[in-house]
Amino acid sequence: APRQDSPLYALLEQAAAYYRQQLRHHTQKRRAVDYLKQRGLTGQIAKLYDIGFAPPGWDNLMSHLSKDSTEVKALIEAGLVVENPDSGKRYDRFRDRIIFPIRDSRGRTLGFGGRVLGDDKPKYLNSPETPVYHKGRELYGLFEARQQNRQLDDILVVEGYMDVIALAQHGVTNAVATLGTATSEEHLKRLFRIVNTVVFCFDGDKAGRQAAWRALNACLPVLEDGRHVRFMFLPEGQDPDTLIRSEGQDAFRARMAQQAQALTDYLFRHLSEEANPNTLEGKAHLATLALPLIEQIPGSMLKRLLRQSLEKLTGMDLDSLPPPPPPPAATD
Ligand code: UTP
Ligand code: MN
Ligand code: MN
Ligand code: MN
Ligand code: MN
Repeated sequence: APRQDSPLYALLEQAAAYYRQQLRHHTQKRRAVDYLKQRGLTGQIAKLYDIGFAPPGWDNLMSHLSKDSTEVKALIEAGLVVENPDSGKRYDRFRDRIIFPIRDSRGRTLGFGGRVLGDDKPKYLNSPETPVYHKGRELYGLFEARQQNRQLDDILVVEGYMDVIALAQHGVTNAVATLGTATSEEHLKRLFRIVNTVVFCFDGDKAGRQAAWRALNACLPVLEDGRHVRFMFLPEGQDPDTLIRSEGQDAFRARMAQQAQALTDYLFRHLSEEANPNTLEGKAHLATLALPLIEQIPGSMLKRLLRQSLEKLTGMDLDSLPPPPPPPAATD
């Protein structure tokens, strides 16, 4: 297939090698190395995730990797060089940033994320969609998780680069990140080809909680019997990186074991916040919200059990209802 043979792969590999090299040898490497140390990372984990440094300046990578305009075009196609549509000026996308290569499950570099070393905005820059990088398909850290585990039993889905890497630094080597994009059905299909259990652990903030509910909705159509999804909600203001750094691996694992909720518990708990099951009106509302979600589940055993739970919660015989309306809109 053309995607496999794209010359962009070689170019992206050269870029990764360049950024890696800058972290070791650039005159300003100290700032980058100090930043990584201050975030608690060792050289070993930086190497495993192939972390690099894009030095300050507008055309370091461009002048290193292109001799003529054809080559600059390829750099633009790879998302490494940006062309201003008005002025036509071209410049490196990643400047003065820590670089995180995004690799596919075979280890080929598809794109990059870049983090500022300080508090500038935007905090992270990511490669755009390119012929080889499709955000709704890739999971950051999956290649490295498989490298570190002969066998994976479950996978933890987190939000960001630093969450994946900090977890690995502390011995939790099975995390992947969606990188600020919504969890897609394609992500989930990919994960469930590898493991039977997926645990979501998003940031303890409003965005993280919204991402969790969206992830639940994305999970429903792939919930075959035998697949498990759980949700871990973190204390307000924490993310997996800050939490594992402050409490360590054992406490983090204990927290997961004690507090991660089954998808089905989360579903009813979330809907009950909107529809109070202690009143008849609330019961009716709850059934209206829950039924179209439950109906999306392909696992016939789980679907049946969920219908039974809903019957218990509402005191209603669901089989006496007319057939449900066709595909529902996701609720938020
Ligand atoms: P967060 O906003 O939770 O990152 O975004 P953070 O935890 O504050 O970052 P650190 O810990 O200070 O480094 C989570 C993920 O969302 C994407 C990135 O993939 C990031 O890892 N993101 C975030 C962006 O793409 N751009 C941004 O400006 C911010
Ligand atoms: Mn943030
Ligand atoms: Mn956040
Ligand atoms: Mn975060
Ligand atoms: Mn963070």
